[in-house]
Amino acid sequence: MTIVRVELGERSYPIHIGQGTLTTPRALHTLLQNALSLQKVTIITNDVIAPLYLDACQRSLAADSVNTIIVPDGEANKSLEWFANIQTALLEQHAARDTLIIALGGGVIGDLTGFAAACYQRGVPFVQIPTTLLSQVDSSVGGKTAVNHPLGKNMIGAFYQPQAVVIDTDTLHTLPAREFAAGMAEVIKYGIIYDADFFAWLEQNIDALQSKHTDALVYAIKRCCEIKAEIVANDEREQGQRALLNLGHTFGHAIEAEQGYGEWLHGEAVAAGMVIACQVAEQKAWLSASETRRVSTLLAQFNLPVEGPVDMSSDDYIRHMRHDKKVLRGKIRFILPKSIGQAVVTDDVDDTLLANVLG
Ligand code: NAD
Ligand code: GLY
Repeated sequence: MTIVRVELGERSYPIHIGQGTLTTPRALHTLLQNALSLQKVTIITNDVIAPLYLDACQRSLAADSVNTIIVPDGEANKSLEWFANIQTALLEQHAARDTLIIALGGGVIGDLTGFAAACYQRGVPFVQIPTTLLSQVDSSVGGKTAVNHPLGKNMIGAFYQPQAVVIDTDTLHTLPAREFAAGMAEVIKYGIIYDADFFAWLEQNIDALQSKHTDALVYAIKRCCEIKAEIVANDEREQGQRALLNLGHTFGHAIEAEQGYGEWLHGEAVAAGMVIACQVAEQKAWLSASETRRVSTLLAQFNLPVEGPVDMSSDDYIRHMRHDKKVLRGKIRFILPKSIGQAVVTDDVDDTLLANVLG
């Protein structure tokens, strides 16, 4: 078992990473009982994950009393409607301030549950048990919680930190291949923005990761969580450095919005977006052509797209990017690599340069 700590003063918490934390009876009980009351627990999950992991989770938790709330699968249910349904269910279950809420699932369940926990009786403790690679390396850590609004994704939410995150690498064995690859895009992102050695390690461990070798998974997830924990500890509310975690996301969101959400997975759009960010950095003479090639080669090894949709013009990108949350005083802010292992936030990218890259 590996532990990474997110240091946020009195809101600090551990991330437990290992094999079998969810599937071994009483394993969760042992991990959580010293810090948290397990007398009354509500597990929130979805109808894909429940048949796979809900029984195991309950055996592992060995809590005195467990209620469950099952949300239908899908991003469409990260909604105000399901937020309200969860509040109603918690009230009907007589959940109180000492009830522990557990999010068992990917980023959709984690974001929805976190926001529900932040609001129920002005905040009840919650634990993240992320079951997708994306949620294990990114969304379960750092306290961003949200639901979508018909007028925009993740537009209603709160910063609300969990009490703990528990990651079981075994859950990745049931994850569809495309979802695993989408998570790898976020893993590769950490190498590009923060750690050249980790990027090189990824290049050397493609087969071990593709075959879901436990040691390789634990190491990769641990390194990503360490980097995210460090960034969040420095900049919890995204006033500066945390924005680096959005490498590839500005272009990626434009692709997702243009194609209709759901057509491209988020991680796939981020993969293409990261290559575009490298090409923009190359135009600014920050990155060499060989570094861009290393990024696109690594992404391609995980079957991720390395270019945007062929029919998307630079005007299409710019139109969507003007609505990005990172737009400040009318200027689009870009996350661009300076080299593999280091990135910066800049609004110094003119439309001609963008048009050169985006075609
Ligand atoms: P997801 O939660 O929709 O999960 C992807 C699919 O895999 C779903 O169908 C799910 O039911 C299924 N699934 C989950 N675990 C499984 C398992 N172990 N075996 C089999 N199937 C499994 O998608 P995601 O990629 O995990 O998360 C995407 C969401 O995360 C988006 O809503 C995004 O906005 C959010 N997000 C949040 C943050 C943050 O900081 N809070 C960061 C990145 C992304
Ligand atoms: N996924 C970006 C962040 O947590 O800040």
